[in-house]
Amino acid sequence: MKPITSRQLAARVLTEIGEGARANTALATALSKDGRALSVRDRAFVTELVQGTTRMRRAVDHAMGPYIQRKLDEDVRSALRMGVHQLLHLGTPPHAAVNDTVDVAPRRARGLVNAVLRKVAQSDAVWPSGAVQFSYPDWIWNLFVGAWGEEGRESLIAMNTPERPEPRADGYVQGQASQWVVEVIDAAGDNGGQFIDLCAAPGGKTTALGARWSPVFANEVDPARARVLREVVQKYRPATQVVVSDGSESPFRNDCADAVLVDAPCSGLGALGRRSDARWQISEQAIKRLVGIQATLLDEAFRLLRPGGVLTYSVCTVTPEETVQVPLEFDVRHENAEIIPVTQPPWREHHQGGLVLPHDHGTDGMAVFQWRRRQ
Ligand SMILES: C[S@@+](CC[C@H](N)C(=O)[O-])C[C@H]1O[C@@H](n2cnc3c(N)ncnc32)[C@H](O)[C@@H]1O
Repeated sequence: MKPITSRQLAARVLTEIGEGARANTALATALSKDGRALSVRDRAFVTELVQGTTRMRRAVDHAMGPYIQRKLDEDVRSALRMGVHQLLHLGTPPHAAVNDTVDVAPRRARGLVNAVLRKVAQSDAVWPSGAVQFSYPDWIWNLFVGAWGEEGRESLIAMNTPERPEPRADGYVQGQASQWVVEVIDAAGDNGGQFIDLCAAPGGKTTALGARWSPVFANEVDPARARVLREVVQKYRPATQVVVSDGSESPFRNDCADAVLVDAPCSGLGALGRRSDARWQISEQAIKRLVGIQATLLDEAFRLLRPGGVLTYSVCTVTPEETVQVPLEFDVRHENAEIIPVTQPPWREHHQGGLVLPHDHGTDGMAVFQWRRRQ
């Protein structure tokens, strides 16, 4: 049997994603099985084809839409999308994008794939809106542009070429914005002390915090994610204790912690570059549910803090609900929580906390808020 090519593998993964698989999971599985024999360069190409085509799906579908008159089978649609992505966004020479895609398309549809790709290659796409051109659902586009105007647009464009984080000094690969959150926490904790990370998996922040704080308790609700957390902690910070519990009803005592972090489950709209299918999955309705969870986790975190202790709330998103409403309502509920403003660069002032937009430094977008429990 002939070994699989990068385009064949990418087309197969895209079909799986079209049928409902998660992009990162389907890609990782394919690369670790059939993609094992590919060179490093070819594996990177498979990754670009899969992630890029998934991310740019709306733009791609718009460009090929006028030339498709019938409903397509998923495998045909995936091959076409992959070809159009190469034509529109990768600068692949048209003859290569067309011929190499036709080669991997299902035999029964090669004529169609050839004809559609040639038409796309010969025409200039006309974009009805920025949301279509840069491939976002309208509601996400409107949210960013409505809040930040031109900067919001730049942020969205920046998330189409996501950060490729360098490994930390200890080898763990952690996004830069996530490391900045750790710096904010370390700066507020004078002498270190007992730390509780209520939402810890996969363990990026927890393992970094272990450099200064001790003991560290890393809590996670999801048993599968807690298994990953355990492995990460074992490798990078073995003294950290992993706890599996719902952080809104945690087993920790009142007033026991010098510092608590709620790196909360969130809509992830600042980290849309990291998961190429995230923008197609998150809904506006989900934000309402997340806001409730974030509020409950913050209240629980505050119960655990000793007087003088520091609470940090961070989210890799930028929605007003999660980054304005949640901290403001927390203030109203907790008179003995004193705001610690986050003003130092790279953070821009955002209400009472700090915010990094994705285009500011080419990182994830992130928001961070801090309080000290009054003595
Ligand atoms: C943004 S991630 C945390 C990332 C982590 N702090 C890091 O830096 O690697 C949020 C985590 O919270 C977990 N989570 C969600 N709801 C939770 C709850 N009620 N209690 C504890 N953890 C929860 C999720 O499973 C997820 O692993």
